[in-house]
Amino acid sequence: MSTQTPPAGGTGQVSAHPLILLGMGNVHRELLGILDAKAETLARRYGVTFPVAACADRSGFILGPDAEGGRIPAGAMLAAKAKGAKLREIPGAAPVSLEEALGAAGPRGILCDAASMDVVTGGIGLTAARAALGRGISVAFANKSAVALAFDELETLARENGAGLGWSATVCGGLPVVNAGRRDLVAAEFRRLRGVFNSTSNLVLGRMAEGLSLEEAVAEAQRRGIAETDPTNDLNGTDTALKLLILVRTVMRRKATLAEVDRTGIERAPAPAAGEVVRLLGEAVPEGDGVRMTVTPVAVPRDSFFGSIGTLDMAVEWETDLFSTQRLVATEGDAIPTAAAVLRDAVHIACGRPTGPTGR
Ligand SMILES: NC(=O)c1ccc[n+]([C@@H]2O[C@H](COP(=O)([O-])OP(=O)(O)OC[C@H]3O[C@@H](n4cnc5c(N)ncnc54)[C@H](OP(=O)(O)O)[C@@H]3O)[C@@H](O)[C@H]2O)c1
Repeated sequence: MSTQTPPAGGTGQVSAHPLILLGMGNVHRELLGILDAKAETLARRYGVTFPVAACADRSGFILGPDAEGGRIPAGAMLAAKAKGAKLREIPGAAPVSLEEALGAAGPRGILCDAASMDVVTGGIGLTAARAALGRGISVAFANKSAVALAFDELETLARENGAGLGWSATVCGGLPVVNAGRRDLVAAEFRRLRGVFNSTSNLVLGRMAEGLSLEEAVAEAQRRGIAETDPTNDLNGTDTALKLLILVRTVMRRKATLAEVDRTGIERAPAPAAGEVVRLLGEAVPEGDGVRMTVTPVAVPRDSFFGSIGTLDMAVEWETDLFSTQRLVATEGDAIPTAAAVLRDAVHIACGRPTGPTGR
């Protein structure tokens, strides 16, 4: 990767990789805290620092706390966002365009996309990713939109421009499903992949089974920072379908589109029999050159793998020819593991070992 330096690895050298934080919601607010708490560990263990060059919310981009000419400390941004203010309303904020934000980050920069989902056009995430990769600036996604809609294009852009690409935060928060699946299931052919990928719908189904109303259960998910501001896509199966699609495209390595996912939301959940619980399951089964993909609420035995997971859990099970059956589970009650996954991808990119583009 032409834009990256090798890890300092004991030489004492520390290389800076300025971040552009696109979106200043739950995920990036947690990321700012982690960057502060782990700065010394990142420098000592990996030889990297991540100054914040620029940030954006719906009001647009501003120079970040560590940019030349950036005049607002991270604490002021966090305080403003906690009050519901826009970044550009913060006294002293320096508004910049996307191009200027990319310029402030420079060729070693990493765009981190944790903006709201836009599953129709890809939204600001896709626009900014194209602009960044076109300039050789790497991208780490928590926002699924661009990866689900345009992975092939982004992978080609990254390869052609010597940039890194990370998207492990897009599926199951901090659980390393994407990275482990893509990197470590070497030469495997999938027989089946299933998962409970959406923690909001899992929490809501669990709490409703305990007697809470839909509204009360959604409010808890929002309080924890794991639900979208508008939870519609969490509940109607779209978020699960996007994650399934990302795994099919990037881990199973099959061609597929969102329109091919047969989707049913939790409003059509079946009534469980005694000893059963309801889970919103995403499933992909290869069929010839294609793949059959479904998202549907199903009643499963409480003592089965998916029945035994908790209300704050996400889980994946895959069956392959070489690695038999593997199951991964994470319990995540807030946005910290997702923020940590963005950081994980940034470190891998900075150290020259991104998740992709690897293989074809
Ligand atoms: N939270 C989780 O645990 C989790 C886990 C995995 C993946 N994700 C994904 O990560 C992303 C962020 O999640 P979140 O929980 O942090 O969401 P959030 O709290 O709703 O924050 C979204 C942020 O995106 C900003 N935004 C929306 N449209 C924008 C635009 N056109 N230009 C610039 N900024 C824009 C919003 O700006 P305003 O502040 O001005 O509204 C807000 O700051 C989402 O795509 C989500 O699906 C989240």
